[in-house]
Amino acid sequence: MAGEPRLDPAYDFPEYRSTLLRCPKRPLLRLPEGPTERHGPMFGEHLVRESDADLTAQHDGEPLGERIIVSGRLLDEAGRPIAGQLVEVWQANAAGRYLHRGDQHPAPLDPNFTGAGRCLTDAEGRYRFVSVKPGAYPWGNHPNAWRPAHIHFSVFGRAFTERLVTQMYFPGDPLFAYDPIFQSVSDGARQRMVSSFDLDTTVEQWGLGYRFDVVVGGHLATPMVG
Ligand SMILES: [Fe+2]
Repeated sequence: MAGEPRLDPAYDFPEYRSTLLRCPKRPLLRLPEGPTERHGPMFGEHLVRESDADLTAQHDGEPLGERIIVSGRLLDEAGRPIAGQLVEVWQANAAGRYLHRGDQHPAPLDPNFTGAGRCLTDAEGRYRFVSVKPGAYPWGNHPNAWRPAHIHFSVFGRAFTERLVTQMYFPGDPLFAYDPIFQSVSDGARQRMVSSFDLDTTVEQWGLGYRFDVVVGGHLATPMVG
């Protein structure tokens, strides 16, 4: 649409087949914003427990897989921290299997891993999760289609209208070149979805650290990928 910034990724990307079913076919309408859209979400901070951020401690035993610590900051378009915001993650287990009836591919479930977590950002916009590295999984989009390992993220900025859903990847994944979801984002913006290995947050004898900052808004925004 004239005057509208180019979407990155576009709503429709034929190689990512399901986008053709869900992309808008007609021009979007801008809805009036009320107080809820401008100042929500409001959720009880007391409902978010510190333990919700540790995906390896939700069951009696520890999940199998490579233990990871994923941390970063939630920032606005000017690089300022966004404090007190809900960050939610969901992911496959180390074998690449989701605990979801829609995922029946022949990889094992892990009785000690659900694959969902959440936390609130601190005063500096920081978040931190403990998890296991998710495995790649097949998804049937095209012959021999495998998703690169990824963690789904949802972040709220300062209002519902800023909510961003994206995927965090791991550096150097050989599946990037074959993945239409990753490739649907332009060259210049793809790397903003890729975490970096971080020795500073790696815990000796325990787990590997990855850093991933999420930017809401502006020309350096983290791409939205559902
Ligand atoms: Fe996924």
